[in-house]
Amino acid sequence: MKKIIKRKTENITAETTKRTIEKAIKRTVINLFFLFLVFCFAACGGNGGSADTSLGENGSENSVSGSLAENESDGSVSSNDEANVGLSSEENDENRDSEKEGLENDEEAEMENETNILVAYFSATNTTEGVAKTIAEIVGGDIYEIVPEDPYTDADLDYGDDSSRSTLEMNDSSSRPAISGSVENMEKYDIIFIGYPIWWGEAPRIVNTFMESYDFSGKTIVPFCTSGGSGIGSSAENLSALTDGATWLSGRRLSGNASSDTVAEWIDGLGLNIG
Ligand SMILES: Cc1cc2nc3c(=O)[nH]c(=O)nc-3n(C[C@H](O)[C@H](O)[C@H](O)COP(=O)(O)O)c2cc1C
Repeated sequence: MKKIIKRKTENITAETTKRTIEKAIKRTVINLFFLFLVFCFAACGGNGGSADTSLGENGSENSVSGSLAENESDGSVSSNDEANVGLSSEENDENRDSEKEGLENDEEAEMENETNILVAYFSATNTTEGVAKTIAEIVGGDIYEIVPEDPYTDADLDYGDDSSRSTLEMNDSSSRPAISGSVENMEKYDIIFIGYPIWWGEAPRIVNTFMESYDFSGKTIVPFCTSGGSGIGSSAENLSALTDGATWLSGRRLSGNASSDTVAEWIDGLGLNIG
Protein backbone atom coordinates (compact mmCIF):
# COMPACT_ATOMS: atom_id res chain seq x y z
CA MET A 1 0.00 0.00 0.00
CA LYS A 2 2.79 2.35 0.96
CA LYS A 3 4.49 1.51 -2.34
CA ILE A 4 1.36 2.37 -4.34
CA ILE A 5 1.06 5.72 -2.53
CA LYS A 6 4.75 6.43 -3.09
CA ARG A 7 4.41 5.67 -6.84
CA LYS A 8 1.35 7.90 -7.12
CA THR A 9 3.19 10.68 -5.31
CA GLU A 10 6.16 10.30 -7.68
CA ASN A 11 3.79 10.47 -10.67
CA ILE A 12 2.16 13.65 -9.35
CA THR A 13 5.57 15.27 -8.71
CA ALA A 14 6.74 14.38 -12.22
CA GLU A 15 3.63 15.86 -13.79
CA THR A 16 3.91 19.03 -11.68
CA THR A 17 7.54 19.46 -12.77
CA LYS A 18 6.55 18.90 -16.42
CA ARG A 19 3.81 21.59 -16.18
CA THR A 20 6.19 24.02 -14.48
CA ILE A 21 8.74 23.58 -17.28
CA GLU A 22 6.04 24.05 -19.94
CA LYS A 23 4.85 27.25 -18.26
CA ALA A 24 8.44 28.56 -18.09
CA ILE A 25 8.93 27.89 -21.80
CA LYS A 26 5.63 29.67 -22.64
CA ARG A 27 6.64 32.71 -20.54
CA THR A 28 10.05 32.86 -22.21
CA VAL A 29 8.47 32.71 -25.70
CA ILE A 30 6.01 35.49 -24.78
CA ASN A 31 8.82 37.61 -23.31
CA LEU A 32 10.92 37.08 -26.42
CA PHE A 33 7.93 38.12 -28.57
CA PHE A 34 7.49 41.32 -26.57
CA LEU A 35 11.18 42.00 -26.79
CA PHE A 36 10.94 41.60 -30.55
CA LEU A 37 7.98 44.01 -30.67
CA VAL A 38 9.86 46.57 -28.57
CA PHE A 39 12.87 46.25 -30.87
CA CYS A 40 10.68 46.82 -33.97
CA PHE A 41 9.08 49.88 -32.39
CA ALA A 42 12.43 51.29 -31.42
CA ALA A 43 13.72 50.75 -34.95
CA CYS A 44 10.74 52.66 -36.46
CA GLY A 45 11.09 55.42 -33.89
CA GLY A 46 14.78 55.73 -34.84
CA ASN A 47 13.89 56.61 -38.46
CA GLY A 48 11.42 59.31 -37.30
CA GLY A 49 14.14 60.64 -35.06
CA SER A 50 16.55 61.10 -37.92
CA ALA A 51 13.93 63.07 -39.94
CA ASP A 52 13.40 65.32 -36.94
CA THR A 53 17.13 65.79 -36.65
CA SER A 54 17.51 66.93 -40.26
CA LEU A 55 14.65 69.45 -39.84
CA GLY A 56 16.22 70.59 -36.62
CA GLU A 57 19.55 71.15 -38.35
CA ASN A 58 17.88 73.20 -41.06
CA GLY A 59 16.14 75.22 -38.41
CA SER A 60 19.28 75.93 -36.51
CA GLU A 61 21.24 76.84 -39.68
CA ASN A 62 18.40 79.15 -40.58
CA SER A 63 18.71 81.05 -37.36
CA VAL A 64 22.51 81.31 -37.78
CA SER A 65 22.21 82.78 -41.30
CA GLY A 66 21.87 86.48 -40.43
CA SER A 67 20.17 88.01 -43.47
CA LEU A 68 17.80 85.09 -43.91
CA ALA A 69 16.86 85.19 -40.26
CA GLU A 70 16.13 88.88 -40.57
CA ASN A 71 13.76 88.13 -43.42
CA GLU A 72 11.90 85.56 -41.37
CA SER A 73 9.64 87.65 -39.21
CA ASP A 74 8.42 84.76 -37.05
CA GLY A 75 11.56 82.63 -37.23
CA SER A 76 9.55 79.71 -38.65
CA VAL A 77 11.04 77.41 -41.27
CA SER A 78 10.52 78.96 -44.69
CA SER A 79 9.25 77.08 -47.73
CA ASN A 80 12.81 77.07 -49.00
CA ASP A 81 13.94 75.37 -45.83
CA GLU A 82 11.21 72.79 -46.29
CA ALA A 83 12.44 72.23 -49.82
CA ASN A 84 15.94 71.85 -48.45
CA VAL A 85 14.97 68.97 -46.18
CA GLY A 86 16.81 65.91 -47.38
CA LEU A 87 19.61 67.88 -49.01
CA SER A 88 23.13 67.63 -47.68
CA SER A 89 24.30 70.52 -45.50
CA GLU A 90 26.60 71.66 -48.35
CA GLU A 91 23.66 71.76 -50.76
CA ASN A 92 21.63 73.64 -48.17
CA ASP A 93 24.50 76.12 -47.75
CA GLU A 94 24.65 76.64 -51.53
CA ASN A 95 20.89 77.21 -51.70
CA ARG A 96 21.08 79.75 -48.90
CA ASP A 97 24.05 81.53 -50.54
CA SER A 98 22.14 81.92 -53.82
CA GLU A 99 19.02 83.05 -51.94
CA LYS A 100 21.11 85.66 -50.08
CA GLU A 101 22.74 86.79 -53.35
CA GLY A 102 19.28 87.19 -54.89
CA LEU A 103 18.18 89.40 -52.01
CA GLU A 104 21.32 91.53 -52.30
CA ASN A 105 20.79 91.90 -56.09
CA ASP A 106 17.19 92.96 -55.45
CA GLU A 107 18.38 95.62 -53.01
CA GLU A 108 21.01 96.86 -55.49
CA ALA A 109 18.43 96.99 -58.30
CA GLU A 110 16.09 98.93 -56.03
CA MET A 111 18.87 101.42 -55.24
CA GLU A 112 19.74 101.71 -58.94
CA ASN A 113 16.12 102.58 -59.72
CA GLU A 114 16.17 105.52 -57.34
CA THR A 115 16.48 108.97 -58.89
CA ASN A 116 19.70 110.59 -57.73
CA ILE A 117 19.45 114.32 -57.20
CA LEU A 118 22.18 116.86 -56.60
CA VAL A 119 21.55 120.40 -55.44
CA ALA A 120 24.64 122.45 -56.39
CA TYR A 121 24.85 126.12 -55.53
CA PHE A 122 27.09 129.18 -55.33
CA SER A 123 26.28 131.72 -52.63
CA ALA A 124 28.46 134.74 -51.82
CA THR A 125 26.41 135.98 -48.87
CA ASN A 126 24.46 132.80 -47.92
CA THR A 127 21.03 133.78 -49.30
CA THR A 128 21.04 131.19 -52.10
CA GLU A 129 22.48 128.65 -49.67
CA GLY A 130 19.31 128.74 -47.54
CA VAL A 131 17.09 128.06 -50.54
CA ALA A 132 19.42 125.28 -51.75
CA LYS A 133 19.18 123.54 -48.38
CA THR A 134 15.38 123.73 -48.47
CA ILE A 135 15.33 122.17 -51.95
CA ALA A 136 17.74 119.38 -50.94
CA GLU A 137 15.57 118.59 -47.93
CA ILE A 138 12.39 118.44 -50.01
CA VAL A 139 13.79 116.28 -52.81
CA GLY A 140 16.04 114.20 -50.56
CA GLY A 141 19.09 115.06 -52.67
CA ASP A 142 22.79 115.55 -52.03
CA ILE A 143 24.04 119.09 -51.66
CA TYR A 144 27.23 120.61 -53.06
CA GLU A 145 28.54 124.12 -52.53
CA ILE A 146 30.57 125.73 -55.30
CA VAL A 147 33.41 127.19 -53.26
CA PRO A 148 35.75 129.69 -54.94
CA GLU A 149 39.45 128.90 -54.66
CA ASP A 150 39.84 132.61 -53.96
CA PRO A 151 36.97 133.62 -51.63
CA TYR A 152 35.05 136.82 -52.39
CA THR A 153 35.61 139.66 -49.93
CA ASP A 154 33.08 142.42 -49.28
CA ALA A 155 35.19 144.70 -51.49
CA ASP A 156 35.08 142.07 -54.26
CA LEU A 157 31.28 142.12 -54.10
CA ASP A 158 30.94 145.88 -54.28
CA TYR A 159 28.85 146.34 -57.42
CA GLY A 160 29.07 150.13 -56.99
CA ASP A 161 32.78 149.92 -57.68
CA ASP A 162 33.69 149.70 -61.38
CA SER A 163 36.99 148.08 -60.56
CA SER A 164 35.80 145.54 -57.96
CA ARG A 165 36.51 141.91 -58.68
CA SER A 166 32.84 141.04 -59.31
CA THR A 167 32.40 143.94 -61.72
CA LEU A 168 35.53 143.00 -63.63
CA GLU A 169 34.50 139.35 -63.84
CA MET A 170 30.98 140.17 -65.00
CA ASN A 171 32.35 142.51 -67.66
CA ASP A 172 34.45 139.65 -69.06
CA SER A 173 32.33 136.82 -70.50
CA SER A 174 35.36 134.56 -70.70
CA SER A 175 36.20 134.93 -67.01
CA ARG A 176 36.22 131.51 -65.24
CA PRO A 177 37.06 131.88 -61.52
CA ALA A 178 38.57 128.67 -60.14
CA ILE A 179 36.56 126.31 -57.92
CA SER A 180 38.01 124.58 -54.87
CA GLY A 181 37.13 120.86 -54.85
CA SER A 182 34.71 118.98 -57.08
CA VAL A 183 31.58 116.84 -57.12
CA GLU A 184 32.33 113.19 -56.41
CA ASN A 185 30.65 110.81 -58.87
CA MET A 186 28.77 113.40 -60.90
CA GLU A 187 27.85 110.52 -63.23
CA LYS A 188 25.51 109.03 -60.65
CA TYR A 189 23.14 112.04 -60.64
CA ASP A 190 20.06 112.19 -62.87
CA ILE A 191 18.77 115.60 -61.83
CA ILE A 192 20.90 118.60 -60.89
CA PHE A 193 19.46 121.74 -59.34
CA ILE A 194 21.87 124.63 -59.87
CA GLY A 195 21.44 127.74 -57.73
CA TYR A 196 23.17 131.14 -57.78
CA PRO A 197 22.67 134.84 -56.98
CA ILE A 198 21.94 137.21 -59.84
CA TRP A 199 24.92 139.47 -60.59
CA TRP A 200 24.21 142.17 -63.13
CA GLY A 201 21.34 140.14 -64.54
CA GLU A 202 23.51 137.00 -64.98
CA ALA A 203 24.84 134.01 -63.07
CA PRO A 204 28.25 134.77 -61.50
CA ARG A 205 31.08 133.58 -63.78
CA ILE A 206 32.10 130.89 -61.32
CA VAL A 207 28.85 129.09 -62.19
CA ASN A 208 30.09 129.02 -65.80
CA THR A 209 33.25 127.33 -64.51
CA PHE A 210 31.05 124.71 -62.80
CA MET A 211 28.91 124.04 -65.88
CA GLU A 212 32.01 123.52 -68.02
CA SER A 213 33.63 121.14 -65.52
CA TYR A 214 31.35 118.11 -65.97
CA ASP A 215 29.56 116.07 -68.58
CA PHE A 216 25.85 116.75 -68.07
CA SER A 217 24.61 114.83 -71.09
CA GLY A 218 21.46 112.82 -70.36
CA LYS A 219 20.84 114.75 -67.15
CA THR A 220 18.03 117.12 -66.24
CA ILE A 221 19.11 120.52 -64.96
CA VAL A 222 16.87 122.80 -62.91
CA PRO A 223 18.21 126.36 -62.42
CA PHE A 224 17.12 128.63 -59.58
CA CYS A 225 18.37 131.95 -58.25
CA THR A 226 17.97 134.62 -55.59
CA SER A 227 18.33 138.33 -56.22
CA GLY A 228 17.59 141.79 -54.97
CA GLY A 229 14.48 141.78 -57.19
CA SER A 230 15.53 140.84 -60.72
CA GLY A 231 14.05 137.72 -62.30
CA ILE A 232 16.13 134.79 -63.56
CA GLY A 233 16.11 136.50 -67.00
CA SER A 234 18.43 135.00 -69.59
CA SER A 235 20.91 133.76 -66.98
CA ALA A 236 19.82 130.11 -67.20
CA GLU A 237 19.63 130.20 -70.98
CA ASN A 238 23.21 131.45 -71.14
CA LEU A 239 24.34 128.68 -68.80
CA SER A 240 22.54 126.05 -70.87
CA ALA A 241 24.66 127.06 -73.88
CA LEU A 242 27.69 125.75 -71.94
CA THR A 243 26.38 122.17 -71.67
CA ASP A 244 25.77 119.47 -74.27
CA GLY A 245 22.95 116.93 -74.27
CA ALA A 246 21.32 118.09 -71.02
CA THR A 247 17.63 118.86 -70.58
CA TRP A 248 17.21 122.28 -68.98
CA LEU A 249 13.91 123.01 -67.27
CA SER A 250 12.78 126.63 -67.04
CA GLY A 251 14.29 128.20 -63.95
CA ARG A 252 12.87 130.30 -61.22
CA ARG A 253 13.87 133.19 -58.97
CA LEU A 254 13.08 132.43 -55.34
CA SER A 255 13.06 134.87 -52.47
CA GLY A 256 15.78 134.28 -49.88
CA ASN A 257 13.07 133.70 -47.30
CA ALA A 258 10.78 131.53 -49.42
CA SER A 259 8.85 129.08 -47.25
CA SER A 260 9.22 125.31 -47.62
CA ASP A 261 5.65 125.20 -48.93
CA THR A 262 6.43 127.70 -51.70
CA VAL A 263 9.54 125.78 -52.69
CA ALA A 264 7.70 122.42 -52.54
CA GLU A 265 4.88 123.79 -54.69
CA TRP A 266 7.38 124.94 -57.31
CA ILE A 267 9.15 121.54 -57.32
CA ASP A 268 5.79 119.73 -57.59
CA GLY A 269 4.97 121.77 -60.68
CA LEU A 270 8.20 120.76 -62.41
CA GLY A 271 6.84 117.27 -63.17
CA LEU A 272 10.08 115.59 -62.17
CA ASN A 273 10.06 111.84 -61.77
CA ILE A 274 11.38 111.81 -58.24
CA GLY A 275 11.28 108.25 -56.81
C1 LIG B 1 28.05 141.98 -57.68
C2 LIG B 1 26.57 141.86 -57.40
C3 LIG B 1 25.68 142.14 -58.42
C4 LIG B 1 24.30 142.06 -58.17
N1 LIG B 1 23.42 142.29 -59.21
C5 LIG B 1 22.08 142.19 -58.98
C6 LIG B 1 21.17 142.39 -60.03
O1 LIG B 1 21.50 142.65 -61.17
N2 LIG B 1 19.83 142.30 -59.74
C7 LIG B 1 19.38 142.03 -58.47
O2 LIG B 1 18.17 141.96 -58.27
N3 LIG B 1 20.26 141.78 -57.48
C8 LIG B 1 21.58 141.86 -57.68
N4 LIG B 1 22.46 141.59 -56.68
C9 LIG B 1 21.93 141.17 -55.34
C10 LIG B 1 22.02 139.67 -55.18
O3 LIG B 1 21.54 139.00 -56.32
C11 LIG B 1 21.23 139.18 -53.99
O4 LIG B 1 21.61 139.88 -52.84
C12 LIG B 1 21.36 137.70 -53.79
O5 LIG B 1 20.25 137.22 -53.08
C13 LIG B 1 22.62 137.33 -53.02
O6 LIG B 1 22.69 135.92 -52.95
P1 LIG B 1 23.83 135.22 -52.12
O7 LIG B 1 23.71 135.69 -50.69
O8 LIG B 1 23.53 133.77 -52.23
O9 LIG B 1 25.14 135.57 -52.71
C14 LIG B 1 23.82 141.69 -56.88
C15 LIG B 1 24.74 141.44 -55.87
C16 LIG B 1 26.09 141.52 -56.14
C17 LIG B 1 27.07 141.21 -55.04
